[in-house]
Amino acid sequence: MTMAENTPTRVLVIGATSAIAMAVMRRFAQRGARVCLVGRREDALHAAAADLDVRGAAATQVIALDANDLSRHGAVIDAAWSTWSGIDVALIAHGVMPNQARSQASVGDTLASFDTNARSVIALLTDLANRFESQGSGVIGVISSPAGDRGRASNYVYGAAKAAVTNFASGLRHRLFRTGVRVVTILPGFVDTPMTSGLRKKGPLWSSPERIAADIVRGLESRNGALYTPWFWRWILLAVVHLPQRLFLRTRL
Ligand SMILES: NC(=O)c1ccc[n+]([C@@H]2O[C@H](COP(=O)([O-])OP(=O)(O)OC[C@H]3O[C@@H](n4cnc5c(N)ncnc54)[C@H](OP(=O)(O)O)[C@@H]3O)[C@@H](O)[C@H]2O)c1
Repeated sequence: MTMAENTPTRVLVIGATSAIAMAVMRRFAQRGARVCLVGRREDALHAAAADLDVRGAAATQVIALDANDLSRHGAVIDAAWSTWSGIDVALIAHGVMPNQARSQASVGDTLASFDTNARSVIALLTDLANRFESQGSGVIGVISSPAGDRGRASNYVYGAAKAAVTNFASGLRHRLFRTGVRVVTILPGFVDTPMTSGLRKKGPLWSSPERIAADIVRGLESRNGALYTPWFWRWILLAVVHLPQRLFLRTRL
């Protein structure tokens, strides 16, 4: 990553209209980065790019993509790669929060959210990994979730997809370790964004996108591993994961 150098950092963000992604991109823009915004709503992407321009981005680019359209991934990444002759930071941020009850009643709903949250992300990670490996430098950040750490009754459809992403990213990190490419798995706790607007919230465990964006940027700069944000989620999940099964099954988590 070249933030401290003279050449502006080249950032690719997929799911750029996400509240968390935008909070991260604003920080990159303030440092004068170049940002390629990829997402499915072109108007919103242009508005986001204008926001980043005002905040100091050296350049912005917009590419429309529905992440479930796997056939277009290669062309979109090609376009992003060629504009600035490479990418320093890629962040995969898109995702959906399935309704757990509806998913339980519908195989179609279950698999539709799995396609977005797991299959499309794994496809993008595969493509990005190969390009970063050839480049011999850079960092891939992917937003997974602590929900993937242990399947729980209240959200295991979402959690199973995030578990797949976390595990895939772990293997990718291992594979790329000697290539100069880092992989950061971002595991945010409860964040107040459009995705969680339907949930009861605002308790002490909730964070703003801005709060966790600071952690994410720091993690992208230096980490090669999992990043729980805020930090205390690591300890919450440690407790949840190690809770003995006979107790766990009696909880309403
Ligand atoms: N909020 C939390 O508490 C929390 C906690 C842990 C992890 N996360 C993860 O953080 C990431 C960002 O979520 P957020 O909280 O920032 O929510 P958000 O603001 O609702 O963002 C979700 C993003 O995903 C995009 N998206 C959904 N389906 C897509 C598709 N098929 N193709 C392209 N883009 C698609 C949405 O695009 P549109 O704008 O076009 O709808 C939106 O930009 C997600 O991966 C989420 O699972 C969130």
